[in-house]
Amino acid sequence: MATRAPFLTTHFGAYYHREVPQEDTELTHTGPGTPCGEYLRRFWQPVCFTDELRDLPIRVRILGEDLVVFRDFRGAIGLLELHCPHRGTSLEFGLISPRGIRCCYHGWLFDVDGAILETPGEPATSTLKDRLCHGAYPIHEHNGIVFAYMGPPEEQPAFPVYDSFNRPGYRLIPGRKYYYPCNWLQILENAMDPVHTAFLHTIVSGSQFTDEFGKVPELDFTQTPVGMIYMASRRVGDNIWARMVEAVLPNLQQVAPIWENGHHEHPFSGPMMSRWIVPVDDTNTLFIEFRHVSETAGVTPEWWANRDVMLPGQLASDAYEASQRQPGDYEAQVSQRAVAIHGLEHLGATDRGVIMFRQQLRQGIRAVTAGKAPDGPSRVAGTITATYCNDTVVRVPPAPTAEDDQQLMRATARKLVESYLARPPLLVGGRPG
Ligand code: FES
Ligand SMILES: [Fe+2]
Repeated sequence: MATRAPFLTTHFGAYYHREVPQEDTELTHTGPGTPCGEYLRRFWQPVCFTDELRDLPIRVRILGEDLVVFRDFRGAIGLLELHCPHRGTSLEFGLISPRGIRCCYHGWLFDVDGAILETPGEPATSTLKDRLCHGAYPIHEHNGIVFAYMGPPEEQPAFPVYDSFNRPGYRLIPGRKYYYPCNWLQILENAMDPVHTAFLHTIVSGSQFTDEFGKVPELDFTQTPVGMIYMASRRVGDNIWARMVEAVLPNLQQVAPIWENGHHEHPFSGPMMSRWIVPVDDTNTLFIEFRHVSETAGVTPEWWANRDVMLPGQLASDAYEASQRQPGDYEAQVSQRAVAIHGLEHLGATDRGVIMFRQQLRQGIRAVTAGKAPDGPSRVAGTITATYCNDTVVRVPPAPTAEDDQQLMRATARKLVESYLARPPLLVGGRPG
């Protein structure tokens, strides 16, 4: 348990602010054998894009484990422990083979399931290869992303299919992959912190999204069957624009379109992006995304279908001064320290989403520690998991006073969310995948 940092109440009193508590290890440490690491290993985790797998193996690090990923000549994808079980040479220097991968040092050959097929330097009578297996993880390819299951084999869930992956009129395309040098949790929490879209992305840095994001929204949060959403409501003329961004346990976020401005009425829009936040280790994190692109011209901007174009405010600037003058998510999150120290925070009313998310996470971690299946997407084959991320714009003229209008915005968003939870719009309208 982290010790409490002193609450500083003295002017010019930094001298009294010496104690730095430890990070919340239960929520932030993800290596093998840690409570959160075991929790995250109960879910399929993305590793890389399918089209990265060409003629050379790729070294990856996921949840603190060094691994190699490759596609052999048969087309089978392997995800193996990086170091050869013979004498430890890295398989990133291996030879991709008709079946599996061959270590460059003494030629041992490994199949994608870890079977050792050949130990060519050993006598023909050697049974070494039959008595050993190399570490391997099962993979699943979905729509251009390679996912791995790194948990106990006997608890492997079905690959989860979300209603947002099978939307009539939309294509799901692989987007970008990038890294932040900090802990995964502070990145994921950002999605449950809608106030930063007004400050960081609009007021501080100039409109990185649309100008309308600059109004500090009315906030509300609710749990869903698979995680939680925030409701950020803004008054735009005679409209109320309700933006709902979603965290799907444990580490998937679905983001509503950043090109929304609330000027035109429309029903539930669905997400622009489904993005996983995957710990590389405790101080480095991988983002990997699907983009949702409408097949109808003009609904999603053209640049969104171009994988080379990045969402604004996400990557580090080229120059330090530029990052100071126009900070984005990268600067805000990475600078919270390598691992943000919760014991030094002073959470306020706008942090209710962050608090709710941490509670859900802790609950999932403790369920796994107690030997139970954690909450989250369906673990059963053949089911589709409903999700709730969207923008909705409804015509509701302003109430007479600012205070009444705030109430009206919250009530409107609540009503919308209740109707979506009762009848998930994408699930009802979607086709099974
Ligand atoms: S170290 Fe890999 S075959 Fe010898
Ligand atoms: Fe952001």
